[in-house]
Amino acid sequence: MNVATIAVIGAGTMGAGIAQVAAESGFDVVLADEKREIAERGRRRIEENLRRAIEKGKAPPGSLETVLGRLNLVGDLAGVARADMVIEAVTESLAVKKKVYGELGRLSPAEAIFASNTSALSISEMAACTGRPERFIGMHFFNPVTMMRLVEVVRGAKTSEETVTTAMEVATRMGKTPILVKEHPGFVVNRLLVPLINEAAYVYSEGLAEAADIDTAMRLGANHPMGPLALADLVGIDVCLAVMETLHAELGDPKYRPCPLLRKMVRAGMLGRKTGQGFYRYGEAPG
Ligand code: 3HC
Repeated sequence: MNVATIAVIGAGTMGAGIAQVAAESGFDVVLADEKREIAERGRRRIEENLRRAIEKGKAPPGSLETVLGRLNLVGDLAGVARADMVIEAVTESLAVKKKVYGELGRLSPAEAIFASNTSALSISEMAACTGRPERFIGMHFFNPVTMMRLVEVVRGAKTSEETVTTAMEVATRMGKTPILVKEHPGFVVNRLLVPLINEAAYVYSEGLAEAADIDTAMRLGANHPMGPLALADLVGIDVCLAVMETLHAELGDPKYRPCPLLRKMVRAGMLGRKTGQGFYRYGEAPG
């Protein structure tokens, strides 16, 4: 299927990143968020990223206008009706996502493909409330989306071959390397990575070492590009907790129990970079 227009639902960190990469790759993009100001904040973030890339000589000078010209903001789901593919990147909650898909199923043309950027939730369960489970798939991007080259393409129980092919092609056109993954909690990357982050939170809460030293340990001792606690702040403490809760609930193995510190941080609004405080404090105001 030929995809020309992509709608991205949810203009947070991931949604804005996906919208930027899609627009840079030549797709016509609709960026939708129920809160118009969040969609506008997403657009500002894209604009800042593009300006920085131009200043560094990594993007041609005219690209700001070209890329932003492909980006249309809408404040409700009705605005996504002309998209060939919808990539959903709303809050990592099955209840919230199901509500969005129920509405999208009614508003989008029957042939449109829905792709969820979920970190760990069931593709088949979300697909079931759209009326088009064969045109539903997971497309899992990584943070920061502009830098990370992988997309996990996740096949649900009823996803058609054509939908798989289209999702693989779209990811490739976005300059990403797609891998095809069977549906399973956490897929491949989060099944491996988030338990590592969770264990680092235990190491920290048990007082074994300071946060910065735990991160230094993994950067210098295991050659990770950034330490697990800094990565937790980048990904979002709420997202890390949601992934651990899914792994724990779905697989039932106590080895996946979420670290209580993550829960405490989420309750306190310490979500990482996006709120200005997580394991570390961040100078800039959130936004
Ligand atoms: N957003 C956008 N761009 C960013 C960024 C951010 N938050 N942070 C850094 N960058 C860009 C910089 O602008 C710079 O761009 P340039 O090369 O064009 O100048 C480039 O990244 C390199 O930045 P730095 O030199 O400052 O820092 P690093 O070399 O350490 O790279 C990094 C930064 C790419 C974030 C690197 O540290 C890294 O790869 N970290 C691991 C990230 C990771 O594991 N992500 C996956 C998380 S799991 C996930 O997202 C799944 C979800 O479901 C939970």
